[in-house]
Amino acid sequence: MSDKPRILTGDTPTGSLHLGHWVGSVKRRVELQRSHDCYFIIANMHAYTTRLAKSAEIKRDSIGIVRDYLAMGIDPEHATIFLQSEIPAIAELTFLFAMLLPFNRVMRNPTLKTEIEVKGLGETYSFGFPLYAVGQTADILAFRPVGVPVGEDQVPHLELTREVARRFNQIFCGVDEHAEDEDHVKLGGAFPIPRADVGAVGRLAGIDGVNKMSKSLNNAIFISDPAKEVEKKVKKIFTGRQSATEPGDIHNVLFQYVRTFIKDPARVAELEERYSKGADLGDGHVKLEVAAAINELLEPMRERRAKYEGRDDLVLEILRAGCARANALAETTLARVKERANLVSWPRTLSY
Ligand code: TRP
Repeated sequence: MSDKPRILTGDTPTGSLHLGHWVGSVKRRVELQRSHDCYFIIANMHAYTTRLAKSAEIKRDSIGIVRDYLAMGIDPEHATIFLQSEIPAIAELTFLFAMLLPFNRVMRNPTLKTEIEVKGLGETYSFGFPLYAVGQTADILAFRPVGVPVGEDQVPHLELTREVARRFNQIFCGVDEHAEDEDHVKLGGAFPIPRADVGAVGRLAGIDGVNKMSKSLNNAIFISDPAKEVEKKVKKIFTGRQSATEPGDIHNVLFQYVRTFIKDPARVAELEERYSKGADLGDGHVKLEVAAAINELLEPMRERRAKYEGRDDLVLEILRAGCARANALAETTLARVKERANLVSWPRTLSY
């Protein structure tokens, strides 16, 4: 087992990944994968909360997201990529953890509330919908990570996770209720209290220049887009600027892309300077440079992806190996939990 600090994060499979995913989370994961023992969960059961009737799509997206991860440079030799539904310990822990949380506490979770509103779930959502928040505490704690790199929207789920960990440690491991979070393991707690590592990189705007980049808003540049498609999409970015000599707003979406994707800081500064002064720098020219920079980023991703295109068998083999590694760890946690919680149990092994 690795002696690097363990972290866990993941995604609900929703379809092809785009530049917003790269900027907002995956880039960071690629950077962390050598210094940390990384677990990346494909939360496919969570997709069933709202897309139950489209399970074939969930299956396709679950494989697709792994292909996107691999293309973006997540290296299965370093990181463990696995499927939520293949880890029985997660389901078992969810049942037990549900007992540790007051019902009303789960329902107060602001991320759940927002989702009910945004997705128009009204009063019709399934029992499984709020249960997913409890399930996410199990996704995390099954692996006893010290940190969970996530976006701002996931912080309420992490708060719930930390509460479950504290309560378990207090009720079943004799940790004092006034103990500091950092001391729980030292005091005999089964779980470290995991930190939410909220990334500094914010949201990337879509090519409509208004909304966050998102597949459903039709404003996304996908990791799998060919070079020509990237150029076409970048050309569509709307700034409202009339001419190359009109002083431009360097806080518009085009310049967000300039700063995000053009690597040379001196060139970025020069473009900003000329654009803001209206010093004969047309949007069309800036767009060409932005598209070239994005294509430079995507080119190695295209090369890596080519190996897996039409080869679901290779992707599935990586997932299977990841599930085997993930189960080895999650089963250790579960055995410890059962012992502490006084559930009569016997040693067991999972194998494929
Ligand atoms: N809820 C997360 C999302 O929608 C996905 C997720 C599921 C997750 N389980 C997790 C993220 C555990 C971090 C840790 O993005």
